[in-house]
Amino acid sequence: MDIYERLKQDHEVQKEISARLADTTGDSRDRRQLFEEFKAEVEAHAAAEEQTFYGALIEKPDGQEKARHSISEHKEAADQIEELTDLDMSSSGWLQKFKTLKEELEHHIEEEQNEVFQLAKKLIDDEKTNQLAEEFDQRKAAEMK
Ligand SMILES: [Fe+2]
Ligand SMILES: [Fe+2]
Repeated sequence: MDIYERLKQDHEVQKEISARLADTTGDSRDRRQLFEEFKAEVEAHAAAEEQTFYGALIEKPDGQEKARHSISEHKEAADQIEELTDLDMSSSGWLQKFKTLKEELEHHIEEEQNEVFQLAKKLIDDEKTNQLAEEFDQRKAAEMK
């Protein structure tokens, strides 16, 4: 498996957890559990993605702009996750805010898969892409601990 397939796998997991979370109501056990799952998954993915995939892309002069853009979106998502953590789950604003984050995350995923991966495939050689997938797994596992 190369890094592109590996990241896509994670993106599917994120979309699935987000869809289930958007269906929850109030300060319920489901919402609490799914939000914890969402946070851990999204944050570990972003950290490992930056340490491996974007680390390799940013080394290429032509990859720097897209890498920086994606990393700034990770920061924005992390800020929104923090705000949601501090917000009362039973308030009507919580779900509204989560849905905004969900949409932005979906947009981020689409951009990665449709634009960033295409560019990276031209800049990073094939041999390296399998190695990056292995490194990604290791880093993500370490982040999840
Ligand atoms: Fe990302
Ligand atoms: Fe990603």
